[in-house]
Amino acid sequence: DAAEDLVERPPVVTIMGHVDHGKTSLLDAVRETEVTAGEAGGITQHIGAYQVHHNGKAITFLDTPGHQAFTAMRARGAKVTDIVVLVVAADDGVKPQTEEAIDHARAADVPIVVAVNKIDKEGADPTRVRTELTQRDLQPAEWGGEIEYVDVSAKTKQNLEDLLETIQVVADLEELKANPNVEASGHVIESKLDPGRGPVVTLLIDRGTLKIGDAVVAGADWGKVRALVDYKGDRVKEAHPGDPVEVLGFDGVPEAGEFFHVVESDKRARVLAAERANRLKTESIARRSGRKVSLEDVFTRAKSGTSKELNLVVKADVAGSLEAIEDEIAKLPQTEVFAQVIHRGVGGINESDIMLAAASDAVVLGFNVRPVGDAAAIADREGVEIRTYSVIYRAIEELRAAMEGMLE
Ligand code: GTP
Ligand code: NA
Ligand code: MG
Repeated sequence: DAAEDLVERPPVVTIMGHVDHGKTSLLDAVRETEVTAGEAGGITQHIGAYQVHHNGKAITFLDTPGHQAFTAMRARGAKVTDIVVLVVAADDGVKPQTEEAIDHARAADVPIVVAVNKIDKEGADPTRVRTELTQRDLQPAEWGGEIEYVDVSAKTKQNLEDLLETIQVVADLEELKANPNVEASGHVIESKLDPGRGPVVTLLIDRGTLKIGDAVVAGADWGKVRALVDYKGDRVKEAHPGDPVEVLGFDGVPEAGEFFHVVESDKRARVLAAERANRLKTESIARRSGRKVSLEDVFTRAKSGTSKELNLVVKADVAGSLEAIEDEIAKLPQTEVFAQVIHRGVGGINESDIMLAAASDAVVLGFNVRPVGDAAAIADREGVEIRTYSVIYRAIEELRAAMEGMLE
């Protein structure tokens, strides 16, 4: 893009955190600041994303159900989030899903802003939250670190403007710019089949301007834009970089995380979508017979220069063995391959573990634990290798062998 065509775009923010720490309440409260600011009138949220204005500039919030959806998108190759707001309840502190959220945000390489919520509650201890998160390498800026913390209450609406201000300061550092003067492209946020309206697809525009009449391809689906609806439910003629918008006119419902782009004609869109559908069919057959990442091909990949990192997700039945495994992994001789644990946890191997592994090309190691729920099926679909062990030394031997290219 010519530099003069680049203009500032709104940051895209995802809220993550432990169950019941107030993610939804905080989103609702932030949305109400918009209403009370009188800028957008009585907003009834229309789509799974919306914008709030602060200092005359927009911030786009994605209303995701949590880090699983966030990472599922990334596994499809979509990096849609610019900033993660990590919500931690001041009366409860850091919990397992807080740690998961941190690992997911880190693996995605997205800056984190911490919202210490529920400061109105008796027993709220915002300092303790800072101490606990410092132990997870999220040093507060006010203690000489790099992470911005804002103490808030979704209930009393305290400091919400500060939170928006902080998000904008962090966004400014990211220098988020896009060219609005090209054909639009971006990602699918969600899609559904509406009994009255047919396929309804929510897109987030990364660059360019999407207009009525545009021919669009998203994965194996295509469409001609018949109508555009913004987050307030109003019909609009165009959508710009950083805007979420609902699109009518698709032939089907593309998956969340799919890339979309505008092409020159309906005919071209149809051809590209059909080609993609065929490719997906072939890939899914290839996936079933092969793998995306496995211990076996770690050394081969390292030698060919494709990747020198062996990312690991480690799950164990008890905290003690988790620590022992991490110690052993740290002691492994770093050959051409560098082994790193990107996420660890106590308990069965779940869907969230698999999606994180899929998004980060990681192998999942389980110690005295097994896949739970749909995890095994999803691992199969996503091409993620799960290796389970009952003794630690066995796993370490295999890792060492893989790193030296000598796995039997
Ligand atoms: P899940 O989506 O289930 O993970 O929960 P969540 O993180 O979205 O939390 P939610 O917004 O549902 O809030 C959980 C509970 O905490 C609700 O009863 C809220 O009313 C309460 N709550 C949220 N924020 C605050 C706050 O700032 N102060 C107080 N006192 N209560 C709050
Ligand atoms: Na809740
Ligand atoms: Mg919620």
